[in-house]
Amino acid sequence: GLPERVDIYEVGARDGLQNEATSVPATVKAEFIERLADAGLTTIEATSFVHPKWVPQLADAEELLGSLPRRDGVRYPVLVPNERGLDRALAMGLREIAIFASATETFAQRNLNRTLESQFEMFEPVMRRALDAGMTVRGYVSMCFGDPWEGAVPIEQVVRVGTRLLELGCAQLSLGDTIGVATAGQVRALLGAFTAAGTDIGSLAVHFHDTYGQALANTLAALQAGVTTVDASAGGLGGCPYAKNATGNLATENLVWMLDGLGVQTGVDLGRLVETSVWMAGHLGRPSPSGVVRALTS
Ligand code: HMG
Ligand code: MG
Repeated sequence: GLPERVDIYEVGARDGLQNEATSVPATVKAEFIERLADAGLTTIEATSFVHPKWVPQLADAEELLGSLPRRDGVRYPVLVPNERGLDRALAMGLREIAIFASATETFAQRNLNRTLESQFEMFEPVMRRALDAGMTVRGYVSMCFGDPWEGAVPIEQVVRVGTRLLELGCAQLSLGDTIGVATAGQVRALLGAFTAAGTDIGSLAVHFHDTYGQALANTLAALQAGVTTVDASAGGLGGCPYAKNATGNLATENLVWMLDGLGVQTGVDLGRLVETSVWMAGHLGRPSPSGVVRALTS
């Protein structure tokens, strides 16, 4: 069976814009986020408190969050890798953060400048202090289905990393197919391995990039397995600057089109969302890669 409702975790403003060659002005980002909220999205990852040299596209995190009007019922989580990032989030009065771990050694080093093991030493004090401050923390695991340098990633290794994040106190775990190589059978197998290890399926979210055009099929497999939170990015923006071969995320429009067709509720107005992605594409100077966006605007 399928859930009655799916919670869409919108990542376009963060995962999307972190990968754009042109830096988008903070005012445009704020308007993008406002429009996403107007379209009915209620969880909108806004930006990252990472090192500005590592991700210059998001160096304006304070400016953006300072200018973003808070709205009832809309959450704006941000990525935080370390205590310095947490300090910045606390200074802005934020209540929700996400830490991001790697399932592989190579990507831990390339994305976090830490080893697979020492990434946890970075996360532990962040989690302790964030939970003490009453924050809600999401945990990402990257490279869950394949790594551009290491190839196939053993399922047990992914489960081990994810379980450690949950043990540290993450309220939700987002399983990332960073480079978009997963297929539906692998999704079923990984979710099965987590539940076999005692993880509540309700605490799992999926985060697919669409490199091989499998993101929607993978999402359906996850929904059939009981997942109810799906990450997506408006217009299919996205990628990771530190991951070779990473293209955009599952487009939120593709997801909403499928869920509307299935009668699964999302609270999202597809027409307004498409308008927003077309507007954003204008700022980025290239069309959205989403077939749904194209079909509904031609
Ligand atoms: P590092 O160089 O090891 O940092 O980077 P450090 O702790 O050694 O500190 C060095 C200097 O950086 C210090 O300054 C710190 O203050 C400063 P100095 O004393 O030399 O003047 N610094 C900071 N400044 C601002 N904000 C901070 C911060 N931290 C340190 N937070 C670090 C380690 C983690 C910071 C770095 O590797 C980094 O920023 N990485 C982020 C990479 C990133 O954002 N990647 C994209 C997001 S992950 C993703 O897209 C995948 C996902 O979508 C899921 C999926 O698809 O799988 C989530
Ligand atoms: Mg991603």
